[in-house]
Amino acid sequence: MEERRRISDSKVESLHLVRMTHLNGAGRLFGGMLMQWIDEVAALVAKKHSRMNITTASIDHLQFLRGAFQNDVIVLQGKVTYVGRTSMDVKVETYVEDRDGSRTLINCAYITEVALGKDGKPAEVPRLILETEEDRREWAKGERRRELRAFHG
Ligand SMILES: CC(C)(COP(=O)(O)OP(=O)(O)OC[C@H]1O[C@@H](n2cnc3c(N)ncnc32)[C@H](O)[C@@H]1OP(=O)(O)O)[C@@H](O)C(=O)NCCC(=O)NCCS
Repeated sequence: MEERRRISDSKVESLHLVRMTHLNGAGRLFGGMLMQWIDEVAALVAKKHSRMNITTASIDHLQFLRGAFQNDVIVLQGKVTYVGRTSMDVKVETYVEDRDGSRTLINCAYITEVALGKDGKPAEVPRLILETEEDRREWAKGERRRELRAFHG
């Protein structure tokens, strides 16, 4: 039978404390640092969903909405939102968490990861079980991004 996994089976949350070494010249969190953390979370999510080695094929719609500063607590949440035959789209949302636990969204990105078989070639991934309206909305967005990628070549 075709393998299927739930979105919740591969969700990942990771936390970072913004240190001085993470800042750019303007005293804000360096965008490249955040991109590394985002890529790591996306890779972990895709590894959990596929249970294979994976590689990052592309990053779509990476949006820096707000800055972050020294001593801010950064929370990254990643989940699979769409799967093709061998690819998985992972949405990563990044928040700054205040002392009272409230979170402000500072970044949102969609990363396409591709599963690699033992021969290092793209390999088929499990199907995704969609359970909520939100899951179905995200899936439709994944289909649209795929169409746009095909359009842009
Ligand atoms: C990603 C990669 C494995 C795809 O290999 P390929 O020979 O193009 O394989 P295919 O044409 O069979 O495509 C495999 C899947 O990748 C997807 N894909 C390929 N290029 C893509 C891109 N730029 N963006 C999004 N998805 C992409 C295809 O749509 C396909 O998905 P599907 O099976 O779900 O339909 C290959 O391009 C690669 O190794 N790239 C470098 C990855 C890397 O080193 N990343 C780290 C960056 S430092």
